[in-house]
Amino acid sequence: MSQLVRAKISALGTYVPPRLLTNADLEKMVETLNDWIVDRTGIRQRHIVDKGVATSDLSVEAAKRALAERGIGASDLDAIIVATVTPDMLFPSTACVVQHKLGAKGVWGFDLSAACSAFVYALQVGAQFIATGAHKKVMVIGADVMSSIIDYTDRATCVIFGDGAGAVILEPAEDDSVGMIDFMHEIDGAGGCSLYMPGGGSLHPATHETVDKKMHFVHQDGQAVFKFAVRKQAEICQKLLARNNLKGSDIKTFIPHQANKRIITATADRLGMPPESIVINIDCFGNTTAGTIPLAMETARQQGKLKKGDLVLLASVGAGFTIGATLLRWAY
Ligand code: UT7
Repeated sequence: MSQLVRAKISALGTYVPPRLLTNADLEKMVETLNDWIVDRTGIRQRHIVDKGVATSDLSVEAAKRALAERGIGASDLDAIIVATVTPDMLFPSTACVVQHKLGAKGVWGFDLSAACSAFVYALQVGAQFIATGAHKKVMVIGADVMSSIIDYTDRATCVIFGDGAGAVILEPAEDDSVGMIDFMHEIDGAGGCSLYMPGGGSLHPATHETVDKKMHFVHQDGQAVFKFAVRKQAEICQKLLARNNLKGSDIKTFIPHQANKRIITATADRLGMPPESIVINIDCFGNTTAGTIPLAMETARQQGKLKKGDLVLLASVGAGFTIGATLLRWAY
């Protein structure tokens, strides 16, 4: 086997739709309070698409920004991977829609479904194409229009989620001083019943009954997910750090999935990370599922927390359950 090449992130672009849904707006829609939402989740507002705007639209905007930052065209890409749980349609894949809208000629790609861990999973899949030498430029997009599957009469879920997208370009690193270092992923299907959308798949295809029973919306046992996320996110990060002879305090920038501010701070506490290393933007965007980590990368960058050579830890827990952690050095 030929020598593996380390992949690096060479560009980042993000996009959220302009329309805001604030806690004050939600107070008028369901029985909730701004104070409860801020206290229990850390969320103050989220961005929501207008009718007719799909995951591919957010993806394309994020992708264009990443391409512009890198100074290349869409047809310079080899592959496009779209991480999402809200594809435009069940098929064709959103990657095909994005490829067409971008005018990316000669590119292949596919969607990857892993809910809130989908971006970190797709990042690793893309990195493997670079590592083997099969590809030179892979675009990885994390995007979700969660508002398309949320019941805005259910206060337990509607206050949490938002819409958004982020895209990165993966390329070979010139040397091992920057780029993807290691990852650890795990799935645990026993948790499937804690966070899921029962309708619309082959088990419960759409019928009047599935619509009446609200089976095309997100169903969540919040406390079960919360407990699992706090325990498991810290555990997988700990294992990944130990395998690389690192401690939490060695991490310059911790970019976790933004599901709940309390999950993020509990994980960071367990890992012994200093508060200044933690990136939190859930107050502005809510939980955008596959979009949270690239959106948080952008926040980190704006806060001056992503400089060339910085040691970065990404982490996520999501529906499935899916669990993921990635260690990398920022490359530019
Ligand atoms: O990214 C995917 C992964 N998802 C997650 O990581 C989500 C993890 N879970 C959570 O973030 C939290 O469990 C929630 C934010 C979903 C809920 O917070 P909680 O502190 O676990 O609240 P709870 O479900 O235990 O509910 C506490 C109380 C209940 O009232 P009673 O029974 O004590 O009277 C709820 O009915 O809060 C009530 N409640 C609300 N009150 C005002 C639930 N939702 C709301 C609301 N506004 N929106």
